Order: sequence, then structure tokens, then C-alpha cells
Amino acid sequence: MNFELKTLSLSAAVSHKCDLLILLVPEGFKPQGDALSVLVATALKQGDLELKPGKHLALYAPAEMAARRLVLLGCGKGDPHAVRQAVQALGATLKTRAIKRAALVFATDCEAGSVGAAVRTMAEAGYVYTATKSKAEMPALSRVTVGVSDAGAVQPEFAIATALAVGVEYAREWANRPANHATPTLIGEAAKALGKHAGIQCKLHGPAQVAKLGMGAFLAVAQGSDQPLRLIELRYDGAARSQAPVVLVGKGITFDTGGISLKPAAEMDEMKFDMGGAASVLGVFRALAELKPAINVVGLIPACENMPDGKAIKPGDVVTSMSGQTIEILNTDAEGRLVLCDALTYAARFKPAALIDIATLTGACVVALGGLRSGLFASSDELAARLAAAGDAALDPCWRMPLDDDYAEGLKSNFADVANVAGRAGGSITAAKFLQRFVGDIPWAHLDIAGTAWKGGTAKGATGRPVGLLLHYLLGMAGAPATRRKTAAARRARAD
Ligand code: BES
Ligand code: MN
Ligand code: ZN
Repeated sequence: MNFELKTLSLSAAVSHKCDLLILLVPEGFKPQGDALSVLVATALKQGDLELKPGKHLALYAPAEMAARRLVLLGCGKGDPHAVRQAVQALGATLKTRAIKRAALVFATDCEAGSVGAAVRTMAEAGYVYTATKSKAEMPALSRVTVGVSDAGAVQPEFAIATALAVGVEYAREWANRPANHATPTLIGEAAKALGKHAGIQCKLHGPAQVAKLGMGAFLAVAQGSDQPLRLIELRYDGAARSQAPVVLVGKGITFDTGGISLKPAAEMDEMKFDMGGAASVLGVFRALAELKPAINVVGLIPACENMPDGKAIKPGDVVTSMSGQTIEILNTDAEGRLVLCDALTYAARFKPAALIDIATLTGACVVALGGLRSGLFASSDELAARLAAAGDAALDPCWRMPLDDDYAEGLKSNFADVANVAGRAGGSITAAKFLQRFVGDIPWAHLDIAGTAWKGGTAKGATGRPVGLLLHYLLGMAGAPATRRKTAAARRARAD
């Protein structure tokens, strides 16, 4: 979907030609003399239109209007959340075959963040999964003009939203692809393709290199599968080399059967989404390629399948992680923490300013927080506060959970330094405590996205979360883009 931002008064909107004009009307709207204002005022007076978010009135070929269809769309107080709710309510209308060009016009200036919310929601509603369908219809809606009273004032917000839309779509696409179309090899190739963008580099490590690194926990999970593992290493360099990077680590289990601790059959297909953390890292890099902010970011993805097999790990097996700590694998279905722990140890070599892992880690987190908020665990209050604020700003919220050391009691093992599971109680917290053993004193956060990365049921599909949260966090850490970048490039040129 292509977006353009335009300064558009209501009288200019009247003569704007398109297949669908959506007029976002907040409560307290003050009508002017133009035809659109008159329509809204009349409809309100007659009780045909309400302005609660999502309430709308559709008209066909209205007199004096250049648009073929018109939707008057209530958006409540005009805050980002209400605007998103409003645009979401249009749902199937946006997929009408005859609608190729649409305009989304703000009748009154709304709160900061509302234009971004509108753009992102339009893009999300327009996404159609086609990769493994033989006769998939491509979406018809391809161009959206966003009309506001002063385009210059919302240009930065608009640029972030369109880049984020591209990143979110990329994450959804890879997470949605079934496991036989999104193997560790194919995810590696997708990352390699991202390396073609300016500022991004990608290195792939195969089983031999991962063995050489001593990643015994990651290797142990992968050993039950015929698909070779990949350790994906992405770099985005937007700032001076001397600036410490933020390192993102995404769980990339391309399918989680549970291994020998086999999962029940019901809904097991959804375990193709167990690489949602990895997909979010790919999505963030896709968005960084668009925005080019002045920051350095490293993305690490340990990618493999978790399968039952003659060669698979067994409950009770003890393996040695890259950190040297031995792990008793009491449950082979707690595999995410095993691939992550070695990637977290590896991350230390980048001397991160912050280390953030993103993982569909525990069913317990789904029980605790449902599908609204991701679980946030952090060793640093400052990092936690920044991530929570970024989540709110991006309408991709999270909720901080505790990390008291006493929660680690249950991870004690008689046969290794640590066990990979504790009891059922506090399952998302004990998983986080396991990970924390591998991060040393680097400011670290863990996002458990088991409840938020995808939706089940009839709307089954990936959400692209938490790409929005992560991108907003990274932009908050970045300096001014172009000038800082030039300085960095110049410094590099001088050093070479
Ligand atoms: N990928 C799952 C977590 C999961 C389960 C995400 C359901 C979304 C929905 C993870 O690898 C897993 O199996 N975790 C176990 C851990 C347990 C064995 C300690 C779980 O949550 O049951
Ligand atoms: Mn599992
Ligand atoms: Zn898993």
C-alpha cells in the first residue's frame, strides 16, 4: 500500500477524486461552509451519525463530491487509540475490489500520533496473505492519500508510520508462512536479502560454526531435526562505530512440536508462529532500512526446529551452553530458552548498550496477560521504563513482570548447574530467570510475546507485534538521522 501525505482543506477534499473518501470526524467537530461540513452537520442533527470511534455513515456518489464513495467516520476524542478503533471498524470495506484509491481526511486536527495510527491501521487492514495460495486475490487498494490541515507538521510522524507499516507487514508475512515454507534456511535467506539495503549487513552461521562457538544448548534443540540450524547475525550501522549498539535477540523456532516432551495435537499448527520473535527482528530491520535513524543495532536469530526423533534430546539430558554453564533438560518443550541462552552469551561480544530478547516463550504468559500486553522483564529500571513508554506510544503495549531472585529456586538441578524448567507456578517468570543467568551485567530486557505475536481462531494470523514497540524504542535512543550519519561515514572514511 502506498501512502502520500497532503495538506487538504475540507473544501479541497470535496473535489478530491478517489474511489473512497474517508472523513475522520472527532467529537466537537466545528462545521465550516463546505459541502462535507454541511453533510456531517446535517447527519449529526438528524441522528444518522454518531461520533463514537468506529460509528460511521456510508454514502454513494454524493452530490458536489468528486469521490465515488464517502464514509463519515466517527473517531471519538481523536486520540491514537480511538482513531485506530475507528479505522479498524471499516474492515471489509477497505477490501472492496472496486476501491483502488482511497483518501483518509482528518476533518479536524487530531491528537499527536493519530495520523500515524490511521496510516498503520489502514496498512494492517489491507494486508492479505497470499504466499501459499494458488488463486489468491491481491488487494485492490493500493494508494492512500492522507489529508490533514498542515502536512508539514505531521510529516515526521507520517514517515515513521509508513516505515513501521512496511516492517510490520514483513514480520507478519514471515511469521504467517507455514514451517515448510519458512525453514531456518529460508529465514536465513530472508535476512540475507535485508542485507541488500544500505546500512544493513547479514552474516549466516551454520551448524559447523555454531558447534565451533560451543553453543551446546542451541545445538541440542536442533539435533532432532533434519533441517540445518542457522544463527543469523544482522547489523544496522546508522551511527558512529564507537557508539554501542542495541542488540535484539529473536527466538526463531520455525516449528515447535515440543520434541520428545511432545505437545498435544490440538492447535499444534500454531507452533509455526514460534519464530514470532525472529520475525519481529526481521521486521525492525526492514523498518530501519526505510528510516535510517542514527543508531547502531545488532539482530541475532537462533533459528531451528524442535522435533522428536532418534537423534533428539531426551528429558534428563545434560548439555553445556556457550557460557560454560551445564543445563539439565528436564522438558524438551522448554526449548526457546535453550536456543536463546547461547545467543544471549554470544551477544556480549557486541558490548551492547542494551540487550533485548523477544520470544514466544511461555504459555504461562498467555494465561497471565492474554493477547493485549506482552510480558516485559528487565534487569534495568531505565530500560523497562523506555520499553513500556515505547509500547504505549506505538499502541503495542507491554506490562512489567517481577524478577525476584527467589523465583529462581525451582531451577535448581541435582545433575547440572541449572534445570531448564521449574514448576508450573509463575512459568513465565521462571523462564525469564533462566535467561537472566546468561546476560551478565548488560542492561537486559526480555519480551514474552506468546500471547501477542499471533491471533488464533477465525482471524488466525501473525500480528507483527512487537515491531512497533521496538522501533519506537530504537528511535527514542537515536540521535538526529542525516547529519549524525554523515559524521559517522566521514569519520569512517578518514579512518580507512
Ligand atoms: N513455544 C512455546 C510457548 C507457547 C505455548 C507459546 C503456547 C504460545 C502458546 C514454548 O516453547 C513452550 O512450549 N513452553 C512451555 C514451557 C514449559 C514446558 C515449562 C509451555 O509454556 O508450556
Ligand atoms: Mn516448546
Ligand atoms: Zn517454543
